[in-house]
Amino acid sequence: MIQLIPKPVCAKQEEGIVSFSKKTQMHGAFNGLYKVLSTMLPDAKTAGENALTFVQDAEIPAEGYRIACENGDITITASDESGAFYGVMTLLQLCAGRDHFEAISVEDAPRYHHRGFMLDCARHFWSVEKIKQILDVMALLKMNIFHWHLTDDQGWRVEIKKYPLLTEKGAIRKSTALSLTGYDKHQEPRDYTEYGRGLFYTQEQVREVVAYAKERQINIIPEVDMPGHFVAVIACYPEISCTGEPTEVCDRWGVMENIACCGKEDVYNFVRDVLDELCELFPYPYFHIGGDEVPKDHWKTCPNCQAKIKELGLKDEEALQGHFNNVIASYLKSKGKNTVGWNEILKATENLDHNIIPQWWIPLDDSVREKKWLAEGGKIILSILPYVYMDHAYAMRPLEKTYGFGPKSVGVEDDTNVLGIEAPQWTEYIRDEEKLNFNTFARVIAIAEAGWTLEENKDYTNFESRLEAMRDYFASIGAPLPPMWIYRGDTIGETPDLNEEERVKKAYGVWANDPYFELKLSKKN
Ligand code: ACM
Ligand code: ZN
Repeated sequence: MIQLIPKPVCAKQEEGIVSFSKKTQMHGAFNGLYKVLSTMLPDAKTAGENALTFVQDAEIPAEGYRIACENGDITITASDESGAFYGVMTLLQLCAGRDHFEAISVEDAPRYHHRGFMLDCARHFWSVEKIKQILDVMALLKMNIFHWHLTDDQGWRVEIKKYPLLTEKGAIRKSTALSLTGYDKHQEPRDYTEYGRGLFYTQEQVREVVAYAKERQINIIPEVDMPGHFVAVIACYPEISCTGEPTEVCDRWGVMENIACCGKEDVYNFVRDVLDELCELFPYPYFHIGGDEVPKDHWKTCPNCQAKIKELGLKDEEALQGHFNNVIASYLKSKGKNTVGWNEILKATENLDHNIIPQWWIPLDDSVREKKWLAEGGKIILSILPYVYMDHAYAMRPLEKTYGFGPKSVGVEDDTNVLGIEAPQWTEYIRDEEKLNFNTFARVIAIAEAGWTLEENKDYTNFESRLEAMRDYFASIGAPLPPMWIYRGDTIGETPDLNEEERVKKAYGVWANDPYFELKLSKKN
């Protein structure tokens, strides 16, 4: 069986063995790729010299490629650099660490242009080295968007030269909640060690990550979540909020009422200053402004917000967020950027710029707005929580459910305006790389195929066997995949005495009460 993820449009085994190693000479088109590719080719063990010729052909679809093997040499044909790169990723998967592969012919192209992964670096910080490892995996799986969630209530993690306090103070919280148990009573277990001092990305490091991603055909969409999820900023600059009262960087998870005051011009000026610096660092023409979970309680009683609503003749507080979104989106546009935001931004659709791209994560009000938006030609990225959120336990969200995700999961039949699929990894309760690896990589593999492979070519059972074939690779990079019974969401084998209700509770408990539960179980295996 041809073991490739994502499954290509068409692949056929041919006669013979083909060398593919550092002794393979690259020729022809796309020579901008050779430097990075030469670092990825396997070391030659027994392989002899041969040729990989790249040919440019405008007839091949964007990001697509064709592979032909003849007389021990290889030809990759593509219309663009990404396609040529993905041809090589296919060959590397076929080699699986060896310096050769069985001859093959392939014709391939992606289903969607946006094949993304989001990493929350605010709740917990992930090193540049870890991000590079994730980018390596994404490249191998032909994923092309890294959404970098850089700020949240619990920490600000990117250097802004004009506002050094954001990383001197806004990166640090006094303690960290360990689970949701007792959350409603403010009695969740917590680690009282200060977290976050020095844990932010310098602008130099951002440039390094952007360049590393670019070499791997991955574009980065940075996110600064606003005007909600803004407590880390308010802790540094209390005047940004409606009340102006001093506060601390959040050490609890949840939706905070303390948000930026969109009645104050200073808030718009602050955001513009931050965007001035960040837009310089991120060349990809998309910027994510968050916009999720924005409770309007403070705005309803804030004299500044109410005066702004009156001055602009806005209908209500939702419309004030719509106004804020439009002001920021038009500023971003002046810098050549399109705006992306979580789908709550559609609550103010009446006055929302139609070029903004919602990222659909929750079905709000029966999804009427999202479907209307799509029908009217608006673009959307799909990230629906019950399918693709990766912080949740496999018992709650088995891999098959993630694998099966697509527009049809949310009743969208015509996917013309669906840009693609993205899966977020939120890290409130993911504190170390072991848990990050455990919860992330199997799902990234599934999402890679959901974003690339045509619906009619998808088959979960067949996918599982191809995923198992990648197990050695993930072990070799120090990120072993979970055992099959775990990613299948099977807690039943461990708990034969529980009834259905108890099993469901336990499945939720795996997520809510003890983030390490599955990990401990997996070690028993
Ligand atoms: C989200 O999960 N709040 C986008
Ligand atoms: Zn206000």
